[in-house]
Amino acid sequence: MPLRKNPPSKTRNGPRESTLVLEGCRVWTPTGLITASVLICEGRIARIGHHLPGNAGETLRVRGLVAFPGMIDAHVHLRDLDLSYKEDFTSGTAAAAAGGFTTVLDMPNTMPPTDSATRLDEKIERARRKILTNVGFHVAAVPKAAEVTRMSRLGAYSLKLYMPKPISPLNIQDDKTILTLLQSSVKSDIGVTVHAEDQSVIRRPDIKESGSFIELAKGRPEQAELQAVDRILRLAAKAGSYVHLAHLTLPSSIVAARNYRHASTEVTPHHVFLSEKTIKKEKWKAWMVPPLRSERVRKNLLALLSKGLVTMIASDHAPHTIEEKRGAVAESPPGVPGLETTLPLMLTLVTRKILSMELLVQLLSSNPAHVFNLPRKGRLAKGFDADIVLVDLKRKTRIRPERFHSKAKYSPFENMTVQGRVHTTIVGGSVVLQDGDIVGKPGSGRVMKRGVLG
Ligand code: DOR
Ligand code: ZN
Repeated sequence: MPLRKNPPSKTRNGPRESTLVLEGCRVWTPTGLITASVLICEGRIARIGHHLPGNAGETLRVRGLVAFPGMIDAHVHLRDLDLSYKEDFTSGTAAAAAGGFTTVLDMPNTMPPTDSATRLDEKIERARRKILTNVGFHVAAVPKAAEVTRMSRLGAYSLKLYMPKPISPLNIQDDKTILTLLQSSVKSDIGVTVHAEDQSVIRRPDIKESGSFIELAKGRPEQAELQAVDRILRLAAKAGSYVHLAHLTLPSSIVAARNYRHASTEVTPHHVFLSEKTIKKEKWKAWMVPPLRSERVRKNLLALLSKGLVTMIASDHAPHTIEEKRGAVAESPPGVPGLETTLPLMLTLVTRKILSMELLVQLLSSNPAHVFNLPRKGRLAKGFDADIVLVDLKRKTRIRPERFHSKAKYSPFENMTVQGRVHTTIVGGSVVLQDGDIVGKPGSGRVMKRGVLG
């Protein structure tokens, strides 16, 4: 996270020797959109310009497409391990590539949870063989300071504190334990990502067979977020620690976080596009936590986003099986897949003139790169990693969950018409998605470790 100093950097030279030229596209550079070609050597951008050497190597003709820095999603549940039936490292990163994401950060609420250095190591080894994009890992917030240090040293991106209930079996809910955790995060030089909903406000309604998803959502009212945000910011200020507030739904949360210097904020596409009305219509397809809010709150949140007051957009891609989701209401697991809908949804906001393209690139690429300390990512410029997404901005598409690469083939956005089609995704100089098809091989992606240059 940006306000902590970086752990000592090590350089690892990858075996990326190939050369690739993207010929004649429009390129989103820090100084604006230009028509140019991009020369990629050994996984990095070697040159962006008009007169590239003719014998430079393999050429991709990409006329008519716009090259953006690869999108970065800091909040993704890739599952795998014992939950591979919901999603695994290959299907989840295929969904990422198809959605224009070249780097994703995985959440630790898996089975088993990522709550120790040993488990993080095991996850890293498993992921290495299966991923198609770059993947980094958040780990569970645990009360033991020594474990926090070990996980931080292994390159974890943050400690995830799930306020409603601990991810790891060890309890970490009272103020004193949270404060101790925040203090050890400062010592270990790692930020804390927070799911801010206060357990004391959450009610599990007594839902009968006829119960509705609206009742379920009402059990997690705005007050739960309000209280949790207030509490975590107060404790973080005491500890002087960095907090990243995940999937905020209330304008007041954004404002509160902006008043604390060491905080960043994250909002999901579903909370700015959808409201309770969609829960009524789409039921289990629109059930996630925090839940969708009123139309008024949604509009105000979108207004703050469009003014540039939110740090980043993240999908909170949270896949489950359709059988699990549409069973008994009280048992339905919350969460919706988002990797394949996020970028087209945000591009739709650009078309509607609600967001500028510049802000979109900040929210989906340069800001997450900065907050989570991903060097050489988040922009297209000489020396930066060749993590690139090529988009056909003119194409309109319809959201068709049955075509998702994710195992979770449902969406609250089903049938919505969105702007822009992800055409090609390049990760570290290798083409992973071409003309909408996955062409990369499992294991071609990289495991990212915070503070280690790959
Ligand atoms: O809707 C959600 N699903 N919210 C969470 O906080 C967890 C996530 C999941 O892991 O399924
Ligand atoms: Zn999540």
